Amino acid sequence: VSDSVVVILAAGGGTRMRSETPKLLHPICGRPMIGWTVAAAGDAGADRVVVVDGPGRELEPVLDGRVEFVVQQQPLGTADAVRAAADRIDGASTVIVLNGDTPLVTGRTLKGLAEAHERSGAAATIGTIVLDDPSGYGRVVRGPDGTVERVVETKRPGDATELELQIREVNTGIFAFDAGELLSALELVSSDNAQGELYLPDVLPILREHERTVVAYELSDPNAMIGINDRVALAHARGIAQRQISERHMLAGVTIVDPASTVIDVEVEIGRDAVVEPFSSLRGVTSIGEATTIGPLTTLIDARVGRASRVIHSYVNDAEIGDRVSVGPFSYLRPGTVLRDGSKAGTFVEIKNSEVGAGTKVPHLSYIGDADIGEDTNLGAATITANYDGTRKHRTTIGDRVKTSVDTTLVAPVRVGDDAYTGAGSVITKDVPPGALGIARERQRNIEGYTNRRKEQETAADSAESGAEPVESRQRSDVNSTNP
Ligand code: UD1
Ligand code: CA
Repeated sequence: VSDSVVVILAAGGGTRMRSETPKLLHPICGRPMIGWTVAAAGDAGADRVVVVDGPGRELEPVLDGRVEFVVQQQPLGTADAVRAAADRIDGASTVIVLNGDTPLVTGRTLKGLAEAHERSGAAATIGTIVLDDPSGYGRVVRGPDGTVERVVETKRPGDATELELQIREVNTGIFAFDAGELLSALELVSSDNAQGELYLPDVLPILREHERTVVAYELSDPNAMIGINDRVALAHARGIAQRQISERHMLAGVTIVDPASTVIDVEVEIGRDAVVEPFSSLRGVTSIGEATTIGPLTTLIDARVGRASRVIHSYVNDAEIGDRVSVGPFSYLRPGTVLRDGSKAGTFVEIKNSEVGAGTKVPHLSYIGDADIGEDTNLGAATITANYDGTRKHRTTIGDRVKTSVDTTLVAPVRVGDDAYTGAGSVITKDVPPGALGIARERQRNIEGYTNRRKEQETAADSAESGAEPVESRQRSDVNSTNP
């Protein structure tokens, strides 16, 4: 599509969403609704995309600089919305107009319509589709010769006659226009209708009156016009988009064991022979390398995972996981975590803002925060970094080939040198030099004969009591008889 402008109408109220969030900012598979129509326009090869926003300019922040914005001051109707973009349309050849609340429209559909429009040389081409249940949509009224005369709205009673309500061919809201013809016709649209609005489809009879050609292009993809007006429709569209995303990955060589229980956002990248086990959510800008297994029951948000790794039953947010890494079950990896190749974060392990070197293992029950850990190190079960002194966070540095024993607490800031050890149960507050054993716990002492001494004391106490108060004592020992 050359020298073309796509105008996306997005200034309507969206009241049926019952939301503080503007309708077109509600996400579908990780991308705001407006982003879907903008992406379709891009896929169609549009030279320019113009979004008609409301006076709050709420959509602008979520779209990058490739989109132009114009503001419709008041929602006076779809024709008025297009008019708000008049100076952006002026001078173009073809203008494609579509509604911003139809996120499942594809670039292929828009391109097909634009090409048909240019082939026919018509002044206007309306995208139509025949629906079993056309309720609420504008109906396409064709003349005796089969050409499109006009669209009659049905949202409120008053516009359509009983006969017109029988029509099942509807206006998809997707149009292609000759830019100059559109701009002239928009000037002549009136709001003399049931909603008191300026209806965009009303340019069609105006163009016909001026001997211009109006043609219909029947869309083959019924999803193209699924309009989102409430959260029921939002969930319905999300389901369709999710199936399309999952099918794209499966056809590209990813095993998704149970697509129905798997959430994959639209930006996620997955390598060949990766396996996504059930009940997993891959969200945001997440990437997964070849032959990696994710899940079951794993959430990845903005995570980068390498090849041949495994992330099982874990929650990962803004973290980097290398190749051949093992994560979980029950790991929680928080922002700034980097697990280098061949490393491991095991069961009940929480890591944040830390680098875990290649081949290093954090197998069980650890909290690692603000730490730099070298290669081939092993942190014993329940190794904990005490990184927070109540006011500030401090770093812990652990070298290569270190072995901390179980229940080591590392009170930051502290360093453990290469090849060092710590003793089990140590609270390490001072640096451990390379190759040393850091041990920081009280020495054990054994009290010989303790058990016998205790028994003797108990017997003595009992007989002293029975001597003094025999009746009460007997009662008490009866009560305690099953648990002496
Ligand atoms: C519109 C069409 C209808 C078609 C249907 C397809 C009109 C009058 N009706 O109806 O024939 O079958 O789409 O989905 O065009 N908007 C603005 N400014 C406004 C009004 C609307 O930007 O002043 C935007 C909305 O944000 C929305 C789009 O235009 O994205 C469509 O508006 P909406 O009110 O939803 O029109 P429909 O009743 O769906
Ligand atoms: Ca709508």
